Amino acid sequence: MSDPSEIKRDVRNPLLFECAWEVANKVGGIYTVIKTKVPVTVSEYGDRYCLIGPLSYKTAPMEVEPMEPTGDDALAGALQAMKDRGVKLLYGRWLVEGAPRVLLFDTGSQYSRLDEWKGDLWNLAGIPTPPHDHETNETIVFGYLVAWFLGEYVSRNLTKSVIAHFHEWQAGVAIPICRKRHIDVTTVFTTHATLLGRYLCAGSVDFYNNLQYFDVDHEAGKRGIYHRYCIERAATHCADVFTTVSHITAFESEHLLKRKPDGVLPNGLNVVKFQAMHEFQNLHQMSKAKINDFVRGHFYGHYDFDLENTLYMFTAGRYEYRNKGVDMFIEALARLNFRLKAAESKTTVVAFIIMPAATHSYTVEALKGQAVTKQLHDTVTEIQNRIGQRIFERAARFPSENSTDIPDFKDLLTDEDRVLLKRRIFALKRNSLPPITTHNMADDSTDPILNQLRRVQLFNGPNDRVKVIFHPDFLNSNNPILGLDYEEFVRGCHLGVFPSYYEPWGYTPAECTVMGIPSITTNLSGFGSFMQDLIESPHEEGCYIVDRRMQSLEDSVTQLTEYMLSFCNKTRRQRINQRNRVERLSPLLDWKNLGIEYSKARQLALRRAYPDQYTSDFGEQEDADYGFPGSERPAFSVPGSPRFRTGAMTPGDIGTITEEMQSLETSDYRGNQVWNRIDEDEGYPFPLIL
Ligand code: UDP
Ligand code: G6P
Ligand code: GLC
Repeated sequence: MSDPSEIKRDVRNPLLFECAWEVANKVGGIYTVIKTKVPVTVSEYGDRYCLIGPLSYKTAPMEVEPMEPTGDDALAGALQAMKDRGVKLLYGRWLVEGAPRVLLFDTGSQYSRLDEWKGDLWNLAGIPTPPHDHETNETIVFGYLVAWFLGEYVSRNLTKSVIAHFHEWQAGVAIPICRKRHIDVTTVFTTHATLLGRYLCAGSVDFYNNLQYFDVDHEAGKRGIYHRYCIERAATHCADVFTTVSHITAFESEHLLKRKPDGVLPNGLNVVKFQAMHEFQNLHQMSKAKINDFVRGHFYGHYDFDLENTLYMFTAGRYEYRNKGVDMFIEALARLNFRLKAAESKTTVVAFIIMPAATHSYTVEALKGQAVTKQLHDTVTEIQNRIGQRIFERAARFPSENSTDIPDFKDLLTDEDRVLLKRRIFALKRNSLPPITTHNMADDSTDPILNQLRRVQLFNGPNDRVKVIFHPDFLNSNNPILGLDYEEFVRGCHLGVFPSYYEPWGYTPAECTVMGIPSITTNLSGFGSFMQDLIESPHEEGCYIVDRRMQSLEDSVTQLTEYMLSFCNKTRRQRINQRNRVERLSPLLDWKNLGIEYSKARQLALRRAYPDQYTSDFGEQEDADYGFPGSERPAFSVPGSPRFRTGAMTPGDIGTITEEMQSLETSDYRGNQVWNRIDEDEGYPFPLIL
């Protein structure tokens, strides 16, 4: 038998395992990254691609079609070896576009080894773990299972190179283990935030001005997340290639995780192009009609505004009050209300806040609103049918009765119908104002959103031009109150508002853009900075960016309010035009263009792990080939008002992994020198335009 160390792994056709806690398991934006990226990754790797995630028995049947691991003996052998030792797992096809292979591990089946693995993690990497942190326990068991699997796999497949790509600290434990156990894979770690960044920003810390001064261990310890921070930091430092999703998070990672990312991999979306421009406009109209139905029900008894002159604004995401800028949104809504009232505007704004919180189901009021309007609607339909029949009957008899009169309206509506209609109308009477929330909140009196709404007195009063609805749950088309999928809801709205303070990327405004819905974001979000880098005048394209770096909080709120007010003053024609313009920006966010950054990261990882395979017979490094096999680097024409007019630019060219990075030293990302220069010149790390 040949000595395994003699065998060279083929770097030309590598295998790719991509591992994240959100594989087939929806929590937040990382699920969106993984799921929407599948088609481009499958087009590059085909069946050499397999995702790895945790097994949730509740959601797996909807997400995965099980199958046998045929055609890959190493895989079949590795899985069997693990099953023989009691590991429960599910292998199959993930039921998303691209139908990739997926492997889900049941962490529960290996909790008996938790203490052993915790001890090992301490001995191996000096990472301490407290007993009762469930999330960390899950992370450890999952990490050990993944490393176990990779070890089993590469010991059976000795000819192919294997790239293991991990996302976020919850999938990070496997990285230091792979390194310590010398498992022959090359690793990429992509972080979508830093733990400390998220925690520090959620408090009242001046985060961005103090990034370089934080005593990271102390801050992590103070917040009870030292062990999690250690896992994140170990993953960062042990990975062959370390990347993140935006320059702002790259800068943060350098200071808080103490490693400069090798590159930035901006998040894309799977952009679906419609045949004709007006199709997405029609979708807006159709979805808006559904939101109109909900609004009629929710405001029953106080439905005294004109839906033709009503604008729907919204914010959505995980409930991170300060990080997601909900505090700023509510303040701006209060100011907008004041301004619209002062101007005696006829426009009404209904602002939705879609953020999951602890609740005890729907409120009776919210359910009743939908029920009474539905009853009214049904009654009107019945009466309408009866009136139709009467008109028909009378009209059919007229010639024989020698009359040419058309039926009189008074005769068409019978007394019975009148009583029925009155009864329905009385049912719409209500003594209270339309509720702010659709659900019974578990912590009503301490909830930050509700408390701020109380403070600024946005109570859905009849004179208020801004009405608010807080829906403390993600949307779902089976929902009895607001029965729309999130996508449908976004399409039906007029403006997304995401004034985040901490947002490594921020999918929500990006999703608005590809659906042709204008949005407001900030230059503290990865997405906002990305668009600002690429487009000359983003606000003219319907992509508004509030400056939260260079001006005071007060000035940021004023800017946000002005954006919202000027949006309210647009005519319908102007709104339609703006939707067309914003939709034209979609190619900037398409994985077909951005996927190449992931390819570059994987190539860099292979080069770092197997440098000798890239050396020519003359001892020189071969040229890098970062393109997808068989495909050119995607051509890209920048729509809108491009900042760069050279034509050869891709969004990812803005400072991600470059060819200079082939020198196997720790590579650099674009922002580095610029941040430093700005630091020295102006004492502030976040320049507006780079
Ligand atoms: N989202 C959803 N349903 C909702 C609201 C939001 O599925 O009702 C999704 C949204 O489509 C987006 C993700 O949640 O893809 C949030 O990702 P983002 O990057 O904005 O924030 P994160 O939660 O990851 O911080
Ligand atoms: C789309 C539809 C139009 C409709 C418009 C309403 O563009 O194609 O028929 O008039 O939406 O726009 P609005 O901004 O008022 O919701
Ligand atoms: C994280 C970040 C979010 C980002 C997402 C996907 O959850 O909070 O800003 O969009 O990951 O990268």
